[in-house]
This record gives sequence, C-alpha cells and structure tokens, in this order.
Amino acid sequence: MCFRKAAGVVPLLQGLTKVQIVSHSRFAAKTDFDTSHLGRISYRPRRAGCPPSEPLPRSSPTGVRYLPEGTMPKFPDHARRAEAVCGSPLEVMAPRIAKLRNEGRLFPFQLGDSYLLPPEPARRIDLDLDQETLHRYCPVSGLEEYRGAVAQWVGPQLGIELTEKNIAASVGCTGALQAIATSLFDPGDEILVITPTWPVILGILKTQNLVPVEVPIGNNAWPDDDVDIFRRRLISLCTDRTAGIYFSDPNNPGGFVMPKSYIEAIGELITEKNLWLMIDGVYKDLILGDPSWSSPLLWQNEATRKRVLLDGAFSKSHAMAGHRAGFLVCPDELKRVLTRVLTHQPYHASTSAQAMGIKALEAGPEAIEVVRRSYMDGSREAVEALHARFHNPDAGAFLFLDLREHVDDERGLMELLFACLDVGVALAPGSIFGNDFGCFARLCYTRTPPEVVRDGIVLLNKVLNS
Ligand SMILES: Cc1ncc(COP(=O)(O)O)c(C=O)c1O
Repeated sequence: MCFRKAAGVVPLLQGLTKVQIVSHSRFAAKTDFDTSHLGRISYRPRRAGCPPSEPLPRSSPTGVRYLPEGTMPKFPDHARRAEAVCGSPLEVMAPRIAKLRNEGRLFPFQLGDSYLLPPEPARRIDLDLDQETLHRYCPVSGLEEYRGAVAQWVGPQLGIELTEKNIAASVGCTGALQAIATSLFDPGDEILVITPTWPVILGILKTQNLVPVEVPIGNNAWPDDDVDIFRRRLISLCTDRTAGIYFSDPNNPGGFVMPKSYIEAIGELITEKNLWLMIDGVYKDLILGDPSWSSPLLWQNEATRKRVLLDGAFSKSHAMAGHRAGFLVCPDELKRVLTRVLTHQPYHASTSAQAMGIKALEAGPEAIEVVRRSYMDGSREAVEALHARFHNPDAGAFLFLDLREHVDDERGLMELLFACLDVGVALAPGSIFGNDFGCFARLCYTRTPPEVVRDGIVLLNKVLNS
C-alpha cells in the first residue's frame, strides 16, 4: 500500500509540508496528507544510512507513486506500526506478576476478566465432533442461527428491530472493531477516542495507521455535570481529518455509563460533521446501578442510526472471553463491505464458539443476571473496603483509582504499583488508558470472587495508607 511506504518516511519528510500521493482510488483526496500531523506518531528512526537524498518517487503501473525503498521494513527490522503497541508499563510489571502467580500469592486486579464460569447450557454443549460441518468453514459473517440469536438479544436493547442481516460474527469485540476500523477509515484519518479508554482500541487504530485523538470525558475521568464543556472539547479537537468517534459505553476503565446529554451531544456532532461512530457495548449488560444505557437513542434517531455501529461479545456478559465469540451490529448498507473485510482478516469466528454463544443465549436473561449480581457484590466489597479516591462505578468491572493525592507523576505511580506488588496486589497503570491518567490506576473486581476482592483490598490499603 502506498501509505505504508509513505508513513515509513515520516522522519525524512519532516520539514516538507505536504506529500502528494497520486491514486486513482475514490479516496484520492484523502491521500494528500500533511506530514506535520503524522509527526505526532512517534516513529523510531529506521536503519542508519538511509540517505535523505535518495531519489523520490517511482510510479507503479496502478499510478501509485511509491516513496524511497530504503525506508521499507526489512529483515531484521519489523514494521514501525508494530511499535505503537509495544512498551506498555504493564509489560514492565509482567515478570513480577508471573512470579506472584506461580507462588499463588497474586491478587490479579490488573486485567479485566471473570472468575465465573459461562452459563450451564453453554458449558454442557454437546458438540457432535463427528459431524462434518463443525470442522468446515462457515459463512464469513457467521452462522445464521448465531446472527439471529444475537439480533434477538440486542435488537430490543437498542429499541429497534434487528435481523440476522444486521449482524456479523467476529473474533470477540476486538475483531469487530478491527473490521470496522478497516472498513470505514483510511490511513491518516483521525478518530476521536473518548478517554479514559480501553487501551486496545488505541493499538487497533495505530496499527492501521489511523490517528487516535484523545478526548477526556471530564476533569476526573468521569463525565462533568456541564455537558457543554465536553461538547466544546469535542468540537475543538475535530479537524478536517476527523472521520469517526469511538467510546465504550459503559466505560472501561471509568465504570461510568455515558449520560444522556453526552449521547445527544455526540449525536449532534456526528450528524453535523458526517462522522462514523463506533460504540463498544461489551459491558452493556453489566449496568450495576441506576443509570440506564442511553446509547440506544442513537439507533432510534433517523439521522444518527445510519452512522453508528455497535460491537459486542459474550466475553463479559456470559464470562466467555476465551472463546472469542463476538459480533458487530451495522446498518444494512455496510454489511457487504464489512463481510469482505472480515474475509481478509480472521475469515470468520470459530464455529464452536458461535455454537456456545447460541447455547449461552438459550439460558435467557437469567444467566446474565447471575453474572451482573455477582459483579455487584464484588463492586460493593471493593467500594466499601477501599481507602482511595474513586467514583462509585455505574457498570462494568472496574474502579478507576485517582491517586493524585499519593503520587505526583507516572514515575511515582509505578513506584507505588511496585509497592502494591510487594504485597501481592496487581493494578493496571492509568497511563495505558489515556494521556491524562498517569496518576490513576485500574482495579478489576470481577476476576476474583468478592471475598478475595476484599482480602486484596485490605493489603492494598496498607500500601496506600503507609
Ligand atoms: C471496552 C472493551 N471493549 C472490548 C474488549 C475486548 O472484548 P473481547 O474480549 O470480546 O475482544 C474489552 C476487554 O476487556 C473491553 O474492556
């Protein structure tokens, strides 16, 4: 792809203002890109000795003009965009965490997962492994029965009628978002990501040469009372390269449900600026308290419905993360392009995982209620026991601790998190959830039973109080 080559020469091109890449595609206008903007992506300089005077560009038979060959990834180097997903502070903590786990001394509050088993019908699934169809490829967008079952589950939640035609199966939410990002955006497009955010979305965007632009939800990792401040922030970060918005609702790691007024503000913006909207609904079934889920308003409004896509999965609501059974909900018109893209990504989600998903839904809403109630217990234990600043979660699986009273910067936070590891408690450092959260940390209260959450928090308090 021409852009891959173009992006590779960013260090060479700084100083130039524009690079015109000739393309016959319908996206030609978007390939006229400003390199000062790409300078925000941090690229490691490539192999030494690539002369800046190397002859520019050659043309391919398709009319695409390539940039210098010396900038191509070559053995033993790997692609620059792979570096966008390397070097998380969690990697630094990983050996200590592994040691604690091996010694049986770990309180694993750092990752978002479940201690529960999937619903009984999914666990007792009788897969006839002698049946040939189970071992063959299935339709790329998923088994019709799976898509139908998902449509019946999600349609009423969105307040619209969905059929299997609006659903595609995916490899977890992660696979759905990857396919959506590939289908809707071009390299260099900017995507507004409301923070704090599930960090993997930043990597999904960056590895596709998209540019995530962080939009903090409020001053304290929680929506402010005055939606106008948020609206102004959102508008101020929109440029003529902005192509879409992503947020998770309910939010990981913040634990809030997006207020109705915020949803309305986002709806107005996507209509006015012609943006796509990706709503990550992996925690939609895990609202613990009062607020209702307002995102569906966007499906009930004619103007916004055609711009919005939902991703979901059985990972959280049915404690089935390891099976990678996910899905996306899209307007009719997009189904073809998304299916084509899926064909070139994972091809399709595992057939046996989809079969488990069908069974999990046969267990009905009661099965989800079991999960939700148990997470409510975990959240109550955590909220009651913990001596730190945080917002009571509306939903999901996390407390996002505001440790600004304890540490001055990210370095101080890492020292604090290593002190927590000394007593066996692992937390996720806030910086992975957005640039503004270097003095925050995320605690997951669903990976262990509620009583273990309480035991771990007693130890955590000792560190925080010392
Ligand atoms: C907000 C959010 N979206 C997506 C995912 C990934 O979901 P999946 O495991 O189904 O890919 C997670 C996982 O923690 C998440 O927190």
